[in-house]
Amino acid sequence: MKVVVTGGAGFIGSNFLRLSVPRFADHHFLNVDKLSYAANPANLHGIDEAPNYGFARVDIADSAAVGELFAKERPDLVVHFAAESHVDRSIVAPDHFVQANIVGTFVLLEAFRAHCADRNGALFHHVSTDEVYGSLGTTGLFTETTRYDPSSPYSASKAASDHLVRAYGRTYGLPIKITNCSNNYGPYQFPEKLIPLMILNALERKPLPVYGEGRNVRDWLYVEDHCEAIWSVIERGRLGETYNIGGRCELRNMDVVQQICTVVAAETRASVTELEGLITFVKDRPGHDLRYAINADKTTAECGWQPQHSFESGLQATVRWYLDNHDWVASVQSGEYRNWMETNYHKRGAADS
Ligand code: NAD
Ligand code: TYD
Repeated sequence: MKVVVTGGAGFIGSNFLRLSVPRFADHHFLNVDKLSYAANPANLHGIDEAPNYGFARVDIADSAAVGELFAKERPDLVVHFAAESHVDRSIVAPDHFVQANIVGTFVLLEAFRAHCADRNGALFHHVSTDEVYGSLGTTGLFTETTRYDPSSPYSASKAASDHLVRAYGRTYGLPIKITNCSNNYGPYQFPEKLIPLMILNALERKPLPVYGEGRNVRDWLYVEDHCEAIWSVIERGRLGETYNIGGRCELRNMDVVQQICTVVAAETRASVTELEGLITFVKDRPGHDLRYAINADKTTAECGWQPQHSFESGLQATVRWYLDNHDWVASVQSGEYRNWMETNYHKRGAADS
């Protein structure tokens, strides 16, 4: 089977490939990635020499390049991760999100329709987020039928891409599936997202910038659990359907940051009080969703998937990974990362300024 994985040099895509390439020796995986700031070829170390792995540096919004690639490869399965993925960046530069997430998905769907959809057993699997549903209040859970109500340019662009995928399924009969997942964490995550940013800042004794009052709630899922969930939906989910994926692990941001301080302190023999003293409240994110939480009963019932990692074990493994991978950390903390820290944090100021 020929598999195209888009965005395979990013956080979740590279975890998916590291799990899948050795597991499915009879599948050929082609990683299609434009290598944006969020990508890192080092994420693929260990599998990049495998005989069933290949790489193509292509922008998914480039219809000529994608059309040519699909005409040549004619993949049986497309697992579509490629996207601009960070909410704060979408507030600063929404145009990039429209281009990559909406136009990029459209271009892939067109190429899949032209070259793959008539193949027996072909599938376009679209990887999306629970943020398309907008914000929950203090109670309730997102289900697959929750109304779309995105708040940020990021989530609006992912919502648009979900609608396109579903529409291509209904209108052209494309074999599609969609998964909407909650917040991921784990190895190889670019340190612009909450958990790796706090881990690295704590290790470097830099301020730990909590937006607003730190009361926002996210439902955390270890990245390996997400990758297994995607395979369970590919293998057992119904065509045309949407499946929610979540960790049943709701935590307030402040509690996450405090747990990070505890684990980093334990792993490095530092003082928890010293690390917690680095917590700094900064100006809130505009349009900041209060709470996300997923009901994944449909995925469990139909595909037999359940998360295997607790937050405690996943967080400890993640902290250890960042401690053990100095070179990777140094490579991502280069120019582009420093620019972002300057744009997003130094100008953010304190919460009450
Ligand atoms: P990431 O930012 O770490 O990686 C994105 C990858 O996509 C990078 O390798 C980048 O180079 C590539 N890419 C971006 N634009 C591209 C383009 N135009 N052409 C080709 N490649 C392009 O993102 P991630 O956290 O790994 O997220 C992967 C997917 O999972 C995204 O679709 C995201 O919306 C979804 N998702 C993420 C989370 C999360 O918590 N990170 C949760 C739910 C869903
Ligand atoms: P993030 O990792 O950006 O994921 P998302 O916005 O997609 O959920 O943020 C997770 C939560 O952490 C979110 O409520 C915003 C908050 N946050 C901070 O408080 N400080 C930070 O420096 C970052 C990056 C996020």
